[in-house]
Amino acid sequence: MKTILITGGAGFIGSHTVRLFVTKYPEYKIVNLDKLTYAGNLENLKDIENKPNYIFEQGDIADLKFITNLFKKYNFDSVIHLAAESHVDRSITDPLVFIRTNITGTATLLHVAKESWKESNKKNLFYHVSTDEVFGSLELGGDFFYEDTPYDPKSPYSSSKASSDHLVRAWNHTYNMPVVISNCSNNYGPYQFPEKLIPLFINNILKKKPLPVYGEGINVRDWLFVEDHAKAIDVIFHKGKIGETYNIGGHNEWTNIDLIKLLCKQVDEKIRNPEGTSEKLITYVTDRSGHDLRYAIDATKIKDELGWIPSLQFDEGLRKTIDWYLENISWLDNVTSGTYQDYYKKQYKQD
Ligand code: NAD
Ligand code: TYD
Repeated sequence: MKTILITGGAGFIGSHTVRLFVTKYPEYKIVNLDKLTYAGNLENLKDIENKPNYIFEQGDIADLKFITNLFKKYNFDSVIHLAAESHVDRSITDPLVFIRTNITGTATLLHVAKESWKESNKKNLFYHVSTDEVFGSLELGGDFFYEDTPYDPKSPYSSSKASSDHLVRAWNHTYNMPVVISNCSNNYGPYQFPEKLIPLFINNILKKKPLPVYGEGINVRDWLFVEDHAKAIDVIFHKGKIGETYNIGGHNEWTNIDLIKLLCKQVDEKIRNPEGTSEKLITYVTDRSGHDLRYAIDATKIKDELGWIPSLQFDEGLRKTIDWYLENISWLDNVTSGTYQDYYKKQYKQD
């Protein structure tokens, strides 16, 4: 039985990754380590929390003593590292927590994993989940990000993730640590914290609140359905080559304003609003400081070498996402009111 540490499993992408691994691989023991910051929500994993191969541990990836003890307790074979501070706007107002978690936290995990695997005769792997934002910003209609595009991060978030990628490569180069890295484009789907564009706007439409479009809404993002990202992580974890990097993307570029108009249209259709109702909520606001213009991934390598391609078209993925938020209004309400933070206490700390 393989024992895998998944960090950040109570977050958005982490919860989809944990669910996929726990259900698809009953022969693996999955330990989900999460600090449960504002972004961590164990309600995301309600459907699998009683599975025999799933364990939750609350803790901080930057706490050396805690991480050392955790590795002693479980003797992990592999790590899939997703825990991070992940929201660009928060990184602009509160950068230091990004430095601590994304850089010190990753270094702490690498250090402890290296010590723990020193004498190991098993096949170990440290899989680091990263973002396309490390590559910087592209011109409109221009080229794509490739695996060998030079790093040029622009925000405190992306530069902290770029630093963590460099650390992972340094541990591979210096200590021969078995690592793999993936850099993915913007994800969307169920269980995303409603501070990010799509769930924030769905929530605001439902509450008839303004939809704050930064600048002129011309920035471009490449959107991927979150379950497709989790499937790519599965493929890379099992088939990726040690020391390699894989770009993951949806081949699905949208300007913010076009995406927002599509979202408004689809929500209006779904909840039977008269045509054009939600678009009236669009409000142009001051641009994000240092706002990256365009991200776009070339995902040829993962397609050619590992056979992964996105399974969903955007129109379908967005409809699925809207349906999920409409069917889970209580999840949205718990998150926006803050009561989701009681879930852990109720489920795990009752005695
Ligand atoms: P998220 O913010 O939804 O979740 C992050 C999780 O990490 C939360 O559960 C949080 O409690 C936990 N965490 C934060 N600090 C911690 C700490 N010090 N110790 C332990 N746990 C801690 O983020 P997400 O959107 O699911 O992103 C997951 C990973 O994927 C991140 O590494 C992010 O950089 C990367 N990524 C995200 C996207 C995206 O579009 N969201 C795209 C590409 C890559
Ligand atoms: P976001 O979901 O924060 O992801 P990222 O900044 O990592 O790409 O934002 C996606 C795009 O939407 C980005 O160009 C910023 C823009 N945006 C808005 O226009 N208004 C908002 O309220 C938010 C949260 C984002």
